[in-house]
Amino acid sequence: MKTLKVDLDDRSYPIYIGADLLGVADLLLPHIRGGEVMVVSNETIAPLYLQPVLEALSGLRCDSVILPDGERYKTLDTLNLVYQALLEKRHSRKTTLVALGGGVVGDMTGFAAASYQRGVNFIQIPTTLLSQVDSSVGGKTGVNHALGKNMIGAFHQPVAVIADVGLLDTLPPREFSAGLAEVIKYGLIADPDFFQWLQDNMSRLMARDRAALIYAVEVSCANKARVVAADERESGLRAILNLGHTFGHAIETEQNYQGLLHGEAVAVGMLMAADLSQRMGALSGADVQGLKRLLTEAGLPVQVPSGMTVAEFHRHMAVDKKVADGIVRLVLLRSIGDAYICSDYDAALLEALLASYCTV
Ligand code: NAD
Ligand code: GLY
Repeated sequence: MKTLKVDLDDRSYPIYIGADLLGVADLLLPHIRGGEVMVVSNETIAPLYLQPVLEALSGLRCDSVILPDGERYKTLDTLNLVYQALLEKRHSRKTTLVALGGGVVGDMTGFAAASYQRGVNFIQIPTTLLSQVDSSVGGKTGVNHALGKNMIGAFHQPVAVIADVGLLDTLPPREFSAGLAEVIKYGLIADPDFFQWLQDNMSRLMARDRAALIYAVEVSCANKARVVAADERESGLRAILNLGHTFGHAIETEQNYQGLLHGEAVAVGMLMAADLSQRMGALSGADVQGLKRLLTEAGLPVQVPSGMTVAEFHRHMAVDKKVADGIVRLVLLRSIGDAYICSDYDAALLEALLASYCTV
């Protein structure tokens, strides 16, 4: 097992990465300060993985609440089920919430922990690749609103993250590939050696080779932990974690979140960001083609969904969270492994990029 640390002074916490970690009481118990625990999971994950967690916690007063599965349930209404269970079972301010699930369960449980009785501890047990390398680390929590994704939330760091790559054995292939998009992102934004490693080892990852997965999750989390420690509240640097997300969110919004998965949309968006960087004279054509090959090998799309227009991109990009003073800020690349936030790109180059990706 590998252990990393997210360095945030008195709110620092470990990330444990390995296989067969689920249900290891020694990893969970030191992070539970009172005798009360509420495990939050969903109807897909609970039948697979809840029992070993409950067994590990059997010496404590332990309850569980099972939420419906799906991004469409990432709402205040669903969150109310967690508050309801906590109140009905009389959980105090010393309770610890355990998020057993992907990013949807993790984000909701984190927000429940941030808000229940003005804040209680929580532990992340991420069960998707995306949540193991991204959403479980860094303390962004929240739910969606009918008028915007992740618009209601709080920064609230977990007290520990337990990433067991063995849980990925049951993850559907599309979800697995969506997680790989975020893994590739870390190579692109900050880690050229890792990007090369990914080019050399993608077939091992696609075969879900455990040693390769542990390495990829470890390097991804180390990169994320470094960025979060430097800029927890996203006043600057942390925005580089959004490489490809401005274009990707535009696609997701246009498809009403019922088309490409988040990671799939991010994959297309990263390719577009790399392509724009090349048009600006930074990357080479070979860099962009190499990225396209890697995304394809990872089972990810590399084209904008057919029918999406340049005007639709502009409309959705204008409400991106990174818009400042009316200017859409983009994360671009100086080279593979070196991302920056750019607001003075040439608008004509952006226009040409969008036109070349939109088929109508
Ligand atoms: P998800 O939580 O919806 O999980 C995807 C699907 O896989 C679900 O149906 C789930 O039940 C199922 N599943 C999960 N683990 C499984 C397993 N081991 N075996 C079989 N099935 C399993 O999706 P996700 O991609 O993990 O997370 C997406 C969410 O994460 C979005 O809501 C997004 O906004 C959020 N997110 C948050 C952050 C952050 O920093 N907080 C970062 C990125 C994404
Ligand atoms: N997923 C982007 C962030 O955590 O900042």
